[in-house]
Parts: sequence; structure tokens; C-alpha cells
Amino acid sequence: MPARLLPVDPAAPDPGAIAEAAEVVVAGGLVAFPTETVYGLGADALNAAAVQRIFAAKGRPADNPLIVHVADPAEVEALTAALPETARLLMARCWPGPLTLVVPAAPQVPLVTRGGLDTVAVRMPAHPVALALIRAAGCPIAAPSANRSGRPSPTTARHVLADLGDAIDLVLDGGPTPVGVESTVLDLTTSPPSVLRPGGVAVETLRDLIGPVTLPPAGAPVLARAPGTRYRHYAPRARVVLVEAPPDRVGEAVAGTVRALWDRGLRVGVMVTEDHAAAVPSGAVVRVMGPRTDPAVVATRLFAQLRELDEAGLDAIVVEAIDERGLGRAVMDRLRRAAASAG
Ligand code: TXA
Ligand code: MG
Repeated sequence: MPARLLPVDPAAPDPGAIAEAAEVVVAGGLVAFPTETVYGLGADALNAAAVQRIFAAKGRPADNPLIVHVADPAEVEALTAALPETARLLMARCWPGPLTLVVPAAPQVPLVTRGGLDTVAVRMPAHPVALALIRAAGCPIAAPSANRSGRPSPTTARHVLADLGDAIDLVLDGGPTPVGVESTVLDLTTSPPSVLRPGGVAVETLRDLIGPVTLPPAGAPVLARAPGTRYRHYAPRARVVLVEAPPDRVGEAVAGTVRALWDRGLRVGVMVTEDHAAAVPSGAVVRVMGPRTDPAVVATRLFAQLRELDEAGLDAIVVEAIDERGLGRAVMDRLRRAAASAG
């Protein structure tokens, strides 16, 4: 049976709709819901059978752990064996928000939720619909991004239905998600703490708050401690070609790459910043990513544009690389993964 779509006001969700979704969660079902980053596919984090259904619906490898979402920092106490001081500080400063903290797990968190690890990832999302759902369900909610494993994360309810419409019970449609890239995942069990995935909270912000943090090596496909970063990710069916060039040569480099692909008879789509849109040769399918100086805008459009161009039946998507500052780091991480996957 196809999933039911329930529209909700993202700022002030109707309690009736939230109660209905919470009932599904409490009964062990799956509900997709908006967070400030991307849509999540939620189940009761403490119900192993329900969490198992998430893995089945997404086609997700069992060793890739889920983030457990809470509606109040105090709820983290019951999920963790020991809460580092740094965690308390970051929770006070960055929650609710797009920061996920990896901490030692309490035994009551089912192994399936944490992918068999002795740690658990926790986050309090900054979205009224997500918070209302967690509160109404009365349990922490395990939720990966609500895409089929390997596809770009969903930033609209339509993306969720396209990937998982047949596999889940209900989608709360709260419109497009405001941040557009997933949360930053920070492992607090290492010293110094390590960023496992750059995301909605900039690494620069974390360093200002807690001092040194280590970063995953740029473009490295394997990082043993971040199971999710091992797998094929963000991959549209079309091949993604990332164009990295010095600032004054970007337009030229994008145009040259498009022409070279055309010469091989390929159908080409292009994602460029406003700054270089005029350089794209006419005839290519173009999406404007936003201003080059504002990676937060680029982040909001990134996954939707990858999906749109993919649906246009193209062979290749040429994408302008942006600076790895602020949210630009998360954007470039996702683009490198998309480009590294065979299309
Ligand atoms: O913004 C987000 O984080 C979204 C929304 C729905 O909250 N969720 C999300 O979940 O992106 P997911 O499952 O698509 O990505 C979670 C990442 C994966 O790379 C996973 O391997 C990592 O977090 N992770 C989860 N638990 C972990 C743990 N205990 N240790 C290390 N990495 C962990
Ligand atoms: Mg994901």
C-alpha cells in the first residue's frame, strides 16, 4: 500500500496530524517527517523490530547505525552510558540544531539501532514537526535520511515518496527542509573529537566552541569509525563531473567540460553558481545553485537539483565546485561522494 501523505504547517503543526503520526510510531510503524536538515525516516528507537523495518525499507546495510532523535537534551541521559562534558557544552550551545553527537551507548539502546557499535549518535532537531512528533510518541525516534540507500537525501515529501512510497506507512509533509544538507556528525569518544561527516553546523563553529577537532581526510572513501561514509552515496543515475578550477577560470572550465561531453555524444546537465551561469553554453540543462559566496543557499538547493537533473534523463551532470568554508564543506563532501560513485 502506498504511504499516506499528511500535510502539516511546518511552523505550527496540527496536533491531530501529529497524534496520528505518533500512533504509527508507537505501534512500531515507519513515519517520514521533516527536520531542519532533510526528511528523516522515523521509528521508535528502542523498538528493535521497528528499527529493523527502517533498514529493510531503505535497503540499508545493517552495520550502518542510525541517529537517535530527542526532543529535549535531558532525554540523552537515558541513552548514554557516560556523557562527556563536551557533549553538555555542545548540547547547550548547538541544540536544537544540525549537530549529531556520537557518545558511549546505554545498554537499553538496541544493537540494531546502533549498528552493533558500543556508541550511539544523538541529536535534537530544530524543526517544530520533528519535535512535536518525538514528544507525542513519548520515545526517542531513530531516523536516517528518508531516501533509498545510496540516493540523494530528500528535502521534500515528494522526494520521500519517490524513493520509499511503497515501503513506509506515513509521510508528514511540512514543505521543503530549511538547511538542505544533513547534520554534522561529531564523535566525542575520540580525543580530540572527530568530525565523521561535515554538515549543517560549520566545523569553524565547533572549533570556536570546543577547540581542536579532526576532519575526515578530504575525499577519503573509507573511515572505519563512520560506517555510513563507506557506502555509495548521493549518487544520481547520471555521472557527476565536478569542476574544480581557480576562481578566475571557473566559467571557462565549466564550458570546456560541457563541450567535451557533448563531443562524446552525451546529454549534459549543469549546476553552476549565479556568478558563472552566463558562461554555460546554451543547449545544456542548467540549474543555478545560488551565489558562490553563500554556501548556505547552495546547500538548500543541492539535493533537489541533483534529483531534478537526474529525472531529466541526462548522461552527465557537470557541477561547479565551491569553496570549502562554512556549509561549503558539507556541500563539497556530498558532491565528491556523488562524483566518486559510478553513475
Ligand atoms: O540531518 C541528519 O543527520 C538526518 C536527519 C534525518 O536527522 N539524518 C541522517 O541520518 O542523515 P543518516 O542515517 O542518513 O546518516 C547518519 C550518519 C551515517 O553516516 C552513520 O554511519 C553515522 O551518522 N552514525 C550514526 N551513528 C553512529 C555511531 N554510533 N558512530 C559513528 N557514526 C554513526
Ligand atoms: Mg543518509
